Amino acid sequence: MCGIFGYCNYLVEKSRGEVIDTLVEGIQRLEYRGYDSTGIAIDGDEPDSTLIYRHIGKVAALEQEIERQQPQREATFVSHCGIAHTRWATHGEPKNVNCHPQRSDAHNEFVIVHNGIITNFRALKQLLVNKGCHFESDTDTECIAKLFKHLYDTNVKNGVDLDFHELTVQVLQELDGSYGLLCRSIHYPNEVIATRKGSPLLVGVKSERKLKVDFVDVEFPDSDNDPQPEVPLNSVRGEHRNFLPIAANESALRRSQSRAFLSEDGAPNPVEFFVSSDAASVVKHTKKVLFLEDDDIAHIYDGELHIHRSRRKMGESATRSIQTLELELAQIMRGDYKHFMQKEIFEQHDSTFNTMRGRIDFENNSVMLGGLSAWLPVVRRARRLIMIACGTSYHSCLATRAIFEELSEIPVSVELASDFLDRKTPVFRDDVCVFVSQSGETADTMLALKYCLERGALTVGIVNSVGSSISRVTHCGVHINAGPEIGVASTKAYTSQYIALVMFALSLSDDRVSKIERRKEIIQGLKLIPEQIKKVLQMEPLIKKLCNTELKDQKSLLLLGRGYQFASALEGALKIKEISYMHSEGVLAGELKHGVLALVDEDLPIIAFATRDSLFPKVVSSIEQVTARKGRPIIICNENDEVWRAKCKNTNLVTLEVPLTVDCLQGLLNIVPLQLTAYWLAVNKNIDVDFPRNLAKSVTVE
Ligand code: F6R
Repeated sequence: MCGIFGYCNYLVEKSRGEVIDTLVEGIQRLEYRGYDSTGIAIDGDEPDSTLIYRHIGKVAALEQEIERQQPQREATFVSHCGIAHTRWATHGEPKNVNCHPQRSDAHNEFVIVHNGIITNFRALKQLLVNKGCHFESDTDTECIAKLFKHLYDTNVKNGVDLDFHELTVQVLQELDGSYGLLCRSIHYPNEVIATRKGSPLLVGVKSERKLKVDFVDVEFPDSDNDPQPEVPLNSVRGEHRNFLPIAANESALRRSQSRAFLSEDGAPNPVEFFVSSDAASVVKHTKKVLFLEDDDIAHIYDGELHIHRSRRKMGESATRSIQTLELELAQIMRGDYKHFMQKEIFEQHDSTFNTMRGRIDFENNSVMLGGLSAWLPVVRRARRLIMIACGTSYHSCLATRAIFEELSEIPVSVELASDFLDRKTPVFRDDVCVFVSQSGETADTMLALKYCLERGALTVGIVNSVGSSISRVTHCGVHINAGPEIGVASTKAYTSQYIALVMFALSLSDDRVSKIERRKEIIQGLKLIPEQIKKVLQMEPLIKKLCNTELKDQKSLLLLGRGYQFASALEGALKIKEISYMHSEGVLAGELKHGVLALVDEDLPIIAFATRDSLFPKVVSSIEQVTARKGRPIIICNENDEVWRAKCKNTNLVTLEVPLTVDCLQGLLNIVPLQLTAYWLAVNKNIDVDFPRNLAKSVTVE
């Protein structure tokens, strides 16, 4: 939630207009992370001054605001650092004073953009108010800006001359919670600080000259036995300690070391840096990126990038390698589609194919997952598998649980990450915990992952975003390779997660003779899925019509499913809720008679999943319970199914026919009509489909 973006040029002449455009475009590509308000901070006309432009609403509103204020676009800068933000409100409603950048004071001495939540902000605010600070917003972020200034002033008063990253170390020691943040200051012109804890951040590097090193090594001159300085965790616990300049604390400074990032011959190197929450806003400029880790403090100045550590744990890696993004600009463009969601629904033919590409040998009925193969013997010995995720990703776990149990013969539990943590679920060393996440950054899932790591379980990541926290922190895993998903409602990630999990289950059973026939059936079923999805997508005109007739102006909708199709019912209901704002509920068909049936009458729309599998007769009988109460369900069934053809003859039942596949894969096809239904219900209501109210794509707060 919230997107942050920074741009620094060094020895590359840019006009202010170009800097503004780069920042604005940067946050535009991050809008999916939050779209309550936006803002940027850049150099002013006076030396050492900062201009801030902010506005509630989306980036387009900010552009208008900048135009209204008419900054001198022609002014040129050989070296400059600007920062930008698009917000998903956590503390403080979306109004002008709560927009980022947040500032330390009326002179904009320190300005901050922040993604995350500072959990001790109330205590910090009180402390700063007691010291005479005047707060103008309701945000937690303002505390950080004010803390920077307070500590800076205190150091100056004590005759301590700190550089920007040393000051940042002091500030971070006061903060509890999560952050990805960028800071610029008139006291450190043309410098920017980027630091993270629990929120993603990466640095893109665009340099015309060859770089001397293609990684930045973080060097720690002291041994692992070097005692960490005692850092108070919470400011209210000891004011006397918190606001003392830590420059006096040798140890704190000694452990913050880095190596500069220089050109090959050591000569000044014209370079541009792009700091961002997501590679999507960087790829237009460069494909060379470096992912920051928690507690990294990246300090950019004089065309160099220095990485320092604010905290160090035993045994952690001290290397950050520059990676080359495989992302193409076209992948994050909308093309001819009206919305990203529509594009992503229609991409599922390719994305499902890409998930399997190079991993399944359809000739020999074998599956090879490179990121998992070495760990399979350990997984097979597990006492249980725990699948942990949120939202749509959780539904992909539910959809594949049965096939996991069937093929692996290991008990599988499926957990919502937040509930898993709330219950403090017991986890043991011989558990295998599978974390499924599109973004790889979801805070609840990430916290559950840390919890499982602490308990010694083997952790597996099933992730879409390459380089994301979950993909880096898990022991092993699979990238689902669905390509960037930008629409807030997850669509193609769901089908690709589903396939990745099925492939995982298949790999687990490749040593079992008893499963040969079943594996063969599933693998051959998978082969046909991309083409079958293409066929289902042709149903769009029919679904569009349904959304304009049967489903038009309805307040509520029930989705019935059983067995493999219960996950389809839950996922379909979630899609409809989040995009069209229509209340919808996924119901286990077997539970209907235990209460939900009371809702059924001739008016309530119902969609029932009645494709062929071993539970088909039971589903038919549930649907009969509905029709007996004058309900008129829309049936999702297989093509030419004679049972439904016959029933349709005598009644006015509506059917949506999808191709038949293997039982455990049927959900891959059945979900597509529901994705289209959600989409068209929303479009008909003029809802901004890619930006549903109150939501954000990547939920990096608890
Ligand atoms: C729904 C949706 C959310 C996400 C959930 C988990 O369309 O997108 O429910 O599935 O927030 O996000 P990831 O998969 O990024 O961990």
